[in-house]
Amino acid sequence: MPIQVIDERQGLHPRINRQLLQRGVCRQLLSELKLPEKSLSLVLLTDTQMAAYNQQFRDKEGPTNVLSFPAAFPEEAHAALCGDLGDVLISVETAQREAAAKGLSLMARLVQLTIHGVLHLIGYDHERSQEEALAMWDKEQQLFAQIFQTRRHTMPHLAVNVDHVATLRQARGAAEPDPVLAAGICELAGARGIVVHLREDRRHIQDRDVHLLRQTVKTKLNLEMAATKEMIALASEIKPDLVTLVPEKRQELTTEGGLDVAAHQKKIASAVAKLRKAGIQVSLFIDPEAEQIQAAAEVGATHVELHTGRYCDAASREDEDQEFVLLRNAAELAAASNFIVNAGHGLDYRNTTRIAAIPEIDELSIGHAIVSRAVLVGMDQAVREMFAVISQAGQAG
Ligand code: PXP
Repeated sequence: MPIQVIDERQGLHPRINRQLLQRGVCRQLLSELKLPEKSLSLVLLTDTQMAAYNQQFRDKEGPTNVLSFPAAFPEEAHAALCGDLGDVLISVETAQREAAAKGLSLMARLVQLTIHGVLHLIGYDHERSQEEALAMWDKEQQLFAQIFQTRRHTMPHLAVNVDHVATLRQARGAAEPDPVLAAGICELAGARGIVVHLREDRRHIQDRDVHLLRQTVKTKLNLEMAATKEMIALASEIKPDLVTLVPEKRQELTTEGGLDVAAHQKKIASAVAKLRKAGIQVSLFIDPEAEQIQAAAEVGATHVELHTGRYCDAASREDEDQEFVLLRNAAELAAASNFIVNAGHGLDYRNTTRIAAIPEIDELSIGHAIVSRAVLVGMDQAVREMFAVISQAGQAG
């Protein structure tokens, strides 16, 4: 039987990312405990539901945070749900109160309670003796650090997209300004990567630019492209450090939406396989949705880039908050699914700090805002000013 995460709260808020708990937390936890074949059920309850279990099985009044029912429990505690390790029941309301008191996110507290409950299922105990209590506490700390530890200790890297330097050049059909030269200045100012989108219509970046950038970029070259035969052949020859597959429509001003990996799984899987065979890591530019992250995992991508466009374009603070939560949840899920997580599109000097504070995001890809600012103050200063914006996230967090 697989790992099941069951939310019995019938649509009550807060909404919990069950996929993250299942794939990122329970599965990883069983793997850390060297029990990858085992199954269990994690059941999310309200305080009222939890109080009923607490009364029935422990003769105690009121809710508690977590209850564990090993599979060997004499009366099946949670009918029909019993995994081979057993069931862990958590009250989300109690977890939420405890998270607020400890200054943790709700997800962090749910992870702690899940670890606690699962350790009980496999025989750990904190009531029999002080020695056992200490052993359980140590194990909990160790597992929490392994599962929840953020992948990054400081701030996300900045990769600068220099497409619009080429846009300016193409406006005159001239040789200047040169995106290759701009890329060098970005690197000297501290950028950790250079991004270019070689479009099928070659409206800004040209083949010559990508060939030269491959020779000059000292950090990391990320080539954005459509998953076409022509582009795959070109990338296989140039060998950028990373290819980001994006959807491409000729009439659009800029990339409009994320790649629908779920709908085009076969085509994308084939493109990813060819690029990986050529020794290139592959990122998929996707909307912040669980379905797309799952599909990205199935096609063998190494990275995902979360599309921040809807967050950046939000018309009100409420919409922005909603989009932010989607991005944060998607980043958690993608990191838990073992992706390196990048993000970008539409980020500017106002809206970037909040995204930079999402701990799972490894790199931000920013173009238009930096190039626009560079026109006024110079590329070096524009890149350094963006670092200042990103580093505010580190100070806030
Ligand atoms: N990421 C992807 C996949 C993109 O297509 C673009 C735009 O070329 C960006 C990031 C950068 O967006 P912006 O130019 O708005 O910063």
